[in-house]
Amino acid sequence: MLKTVMIFASLSTVISAGTQAADADAGKELVDNNCVRCHNSEIYTRPNRMVTTLPGLHKQVRRCEQMLGLTWFDEDVDNASAHLNEQFYKLR
Ligand code: HEC
Repeated sequence: MLKTVMIFASLSTVISAGTQAADADAGKELVDNNCVRCHNSEIYTRPNRMVTTLPGLHKQVRRCEQMLGLTWFDEDVDNASAHLNEQFYKLR
């Protein structure tokens, strides 16, 4: 029973990460407030940038966020990724 609940929970996380309309404005605020300590926005547009796909962007935002120990919700990671994509990466 518990296992079923957990599978459902992780499934719905995946689904909502894919379909939910992210809020890039909220994401901008998160990034501006938390993400300029180690690198500024130039890293997002450097010539051989690391991130080349949307899932990759999501993963990297999560990685950096965890380095900071911020414990963002999935929604926050979605919003920050949406902002970075809109402003810098322009991936689809
Ligand atoms: C503790 C230092 C640190 C903080 C704070 C930090 N980052 Fe990073 N970030 C890094 C490092 C290190 C890299 C990788 C640089 C490399 O490998 O060249 C990186 C790379 C990235 C990249 C990939 C750049 C590329 O090449 O495409 C993204 C996107 C990113 N960070 C987002 C964020 C976001 C969003 C935050 C705020 C939650 C954040 N970072 C805060 C250290 C940090």
